[in-house]
Amino acid sequence: MRKIGVLTSGGDSPGMNAAVMAVARSAALYGMPLVGIKRGYNGLLRKSTNIRDDLQEMHLDTVLDIADQPGTYLRTARCLEFKDPVWRNVAVKTLHDMEIDGLVIIGGDGSFQGAMRLCELGIPCIGIPGTIDNDLPYTEMTLGYETAVQVCTDAIRAVRATSRSHDRPHVVEVMGRHCGDIALKAAAATGSEMVMVPEVPWSIDQLADRLNKQIAKGNTRATVVVAEGCWDSMEPFDVYGFLTSHGKQCFEGEGISSLRLASILKRKCGMVECRSTVVGYTQRGAEPVAKDSAFAFEAGNLAVRLLRDGISNQVIGVHQGRVFYMPIEAALKTERTFRKDLYDLINTL
Ligand code: ADP
Ligand code: F6P
Repeated sequence: MRKIGVLTSGGDSPGMNAAVMAVARSAALYGMPLVGIKRGYNGLLRKSTNIRDDLQEMHLDTVLDIADQPGTYLRTARCLEFKDPVWRNVAVKTLHDMEIDGLVIIGGDGSFQGAMRLCELGIPCIGIPGTIDNDLPYTEMTLGYETAVQVCTDAIRAVRATSRSHDRPHVVEVMGRHCGDIALKAAAATGSEMVMVPEVPWSIDQLADRLNKQIAKGNTRATVVVAEGCWDSMEPFDVYGFLTSHGKQCFEGEGISSLRLASILKRKCGMVECRSTVVGYTQRGAEPVAKDSAFAFEAGNLAVRLLRDGISNQVIGVHQGRVFYMPIEAALKTERTFRKDLYDLINTL
């Protein structure tokens, strides 16, 4: 194998740049020229008018500058065309034209599906898990998850300080798509009293009941951490009917949100106030914590070594604290186990 490429795909995650830096330094060490592919799989489809918007030779100078930066220098995108075999053939032609013999793909499960399809077309690929959601069960960690948890922990601690000052409860919403891991870990780290996740069915009445029990114990400043995907596991509730019957403005058909949940809880629990905060994209755009950067460093090197040694169709992960690799297909079939014990502990303590 001579020249290789690297790309970041799907949502960005803290640690992606550190992984690209490790890939670049490893490629230089093993004498393999490296091309950076811009905006996920889009760069391989060559749709930009300027080639440098699609493909860029990676020099050591550039990558040394980006290693600790948040975001992804290579940019990222969701490229729907890549699910179409016709467009994947365009990508393969670009790789052949550029004499790129293998790829390192940094992204989540969708990006790994794309990597598998490229392997079937004869392009060796290695995946590095880059997603804040921690929704890849084959690995103990994904790039960005620890950072996202730290950002949420800092945010919730600050929220709890002001909740304490004002003696009022607070709903805090965190990311994670269909996975409640960020919510669970940040709730545990901050001693939050309640957590709602997509993995466990729940109802507003149950939640109000828990909050009422906290208030009865003398805790008038409890925190409810909600994962953004938890609305999918919530029992149906007539948000419009409830809020309008309590004199609150709400438009017909409007669904639940953390803002409206706070408003409903305030009324159901007879509190003077209940506020809400959405932590949002600060989770994705944060500077990586050491654990994410250190994983990126090892993963980037292993990815290049595997390609150099003719090993393909693998993803890198962490098992029992050590960096390892396994076939992409088997990795994507690994079943997820949710920490229901931790969920129960947070909601009962
Ligand atoms: P993530 O990689 O974070 O899970 P997405 O699910 O959005 O993010 O996937 C990222 C990209 O991977 C998609 O925009 C698309 O380019 C590619 N991809 C996703 N699923 C497939 C698939 N089944 N076949 C080929 N490419 C895919
Ligand atoms: O997958 C990472 C993630 O931040 C999810 O937590 C979130 O649901 C999603 O991406 C948001 O994606 P976008 O920024 O494309 O709307």
